[in-house]
Amino acid sequence: MDTSLIIEGAYFIAALLFIYGLKRMASPKTARSGIVVAGWGMVLAVVVAFLYGLDVNERAQPHVALNLGLVMIALGLGVGWAWYSGKKVAMTDMPQMVALYNGMGGGAAAAIAAIELFSGNAQSHGVVVSVLAVLGGLIGAVALSGSLVAWAKLDGRMSKTIRLPGQQLINAVLFFAALGLGAAITTAGVTGGEVSMLLISLFFILALVLGVMLTTPIGGADMPVVISLYNAFTGLAVAFEGFVLQNPAMIIAGTVVGSAGTLLTLMMAKAMNRPVSNVIFSQFGESGGEGDSDIEGSMKAAEASDAAIAMYYASKVIIVPGYGLAVAQAQHKLYEFVKLLQKQGVDVKFAIHPVAGRMPGHMNVLLAEAGVPYDIIHDLEDINEDFAQADVAIVLGANDVVNPAARTRKSSPIYGMPILNVDMAHQAYVVKRGQGKGYSGVENELFYAENTSMVYGDAQKVMAQMIEAVKSLG
Ligand code: TAP
Repeated sequence: MDTSLIIEGAYFIAALLFIYGLKRMASPKTARSGIVVAGWGMVLAVVVAFLYGLDVNERAQPHVALNLGLVMIALGLGVGWAWYSGKKVAMTDMPQMVALYNGMGGGAAAAIAAIELFSGNAQSHGVVVSVLAVLGGLIGAVALSGSLVAWAKLDGRMSKTIRLPGQQLINAVLFFAALGLGAAITTAGVTGGEVSMLLISLFFILALVLGVMLTTPIGGADMPVVISLYNAFTGLAVAFEGFVLQNPAMIIAGTVVGSAGTLLTLMMAKAMNRPVSNVIFSQFGESGGEGDSDIEGSMKAAEASDAAIAMYYASKVIIVPGYGLAVAQAQHKLYEFVKLLQKQGVDVKFAIHPVAGRMPGHMNVLLAEAGVPYDIIHDLEDINEDFAQADVAIVLGANDVVNPAARTRKSSPIYGMPILNVDMAHQAYVVKRGQGKGYSGVENELFYAENTSMVYGDAQKVMAQMIEAVKSLG
């Protein structure tokens, strides 16, 4: 059979597997198998890329055929490292890992662009291919260096949020300078002139610097949105380079990643009620809360055992997990406690805010890890009405996502963000270590409310005390 037919068919199947895998990722029940399906699509695409590279017809990719040994070494190292790091990564370190992998994708697209531009291959195929190579190179390089900065920030290796005077202007100059160089590279190449290596190198250096400059001013807690945005960039860059290489699997995978990344970015921004531009250009959470000094009431402390007993004798309890629960790794103890309540006949539900924690789906994954069944985990829209009927709502290491100021206080940086209606429950308990604010830096009105009590302590220790208290009841 014609090799090119096998190759095209296999790319088509790989693309179907990507899309089907993505579809399965829409629900926590099927997400794990979705990742496996998409992974097999990727294996197929990589194997076929080899066939394509070794294909002796005129579309042959001499780079692959000539450097087979090097390619095998690179593949072996990549697979080995990814397998090892994937096995040992802690759940709380997952955002960093996503940032790194995302950066690799952008870097790979930029590397393809570099090869195609340095060799003159892209330019020799006309204006469209040349422009796409340049744009893919620019976006991919920005995604690479930007994702590396995001990784360093999330990993605590870079704590400073560096903001230069006139930062926006510097970024604009860098962007237009890179575009100008890109135009020069394209024009020179397409018109048959000599394309200077220096020009191409300078183009990539500017793009890499731009990625760094765009990311350093953004606060660590906004990094999930930034990573998602760079993920969309990476997808776009891969799709562009797919056109350059005439590789359908790259075009489809890149488009899917680009659109999924864009949607996720928009959804996260919407869940925080902030435009994406606000995430990128403002210093959210660093200026502190404004105008929240007039909150009435005082914080009332309660013992863990009091909260546990109140829940034991309640009929409806809603649990709100947040970032602090993940930090304390208290999910297993929490579920042990929930099972004790359920044994007593208490109706227990979990309420998940779309941006609780530090990455999309953070809380769902955390609870799934502890074995909490999916049918008692509810999204904000599905459960918010239930708080008014709950005897007890308990907040575990969450803060901003339950702050009623988002509903009422126009001056608050979180005004307009949808929140979980914990304040509407008959009794609310909040478990946190001290009086520290949430990531947005604003005071939480819920903590001062008449029907709220604070249980101070590390979430894991508090859960252990609650289990003890309930067990002692018999
Ligand atoms: P936060 O507002 O960050 O509050 C977490 C709370 O946990 C803190 O008030 C902290 O108080 C407490 N805490 C920390 N360690 C603890 C421990 N070991 N034991 C018990 N409590 C502990 O978290 P949230 O309510 O989950 O909100 C998430 C925030 O991240 C939102 O502002 C959201 O906009 C932002 N964000 C999220 C995402 C995604 S996709 N998830 C993306 C971008 C931004 P103490 O220090 O007093 O203990």
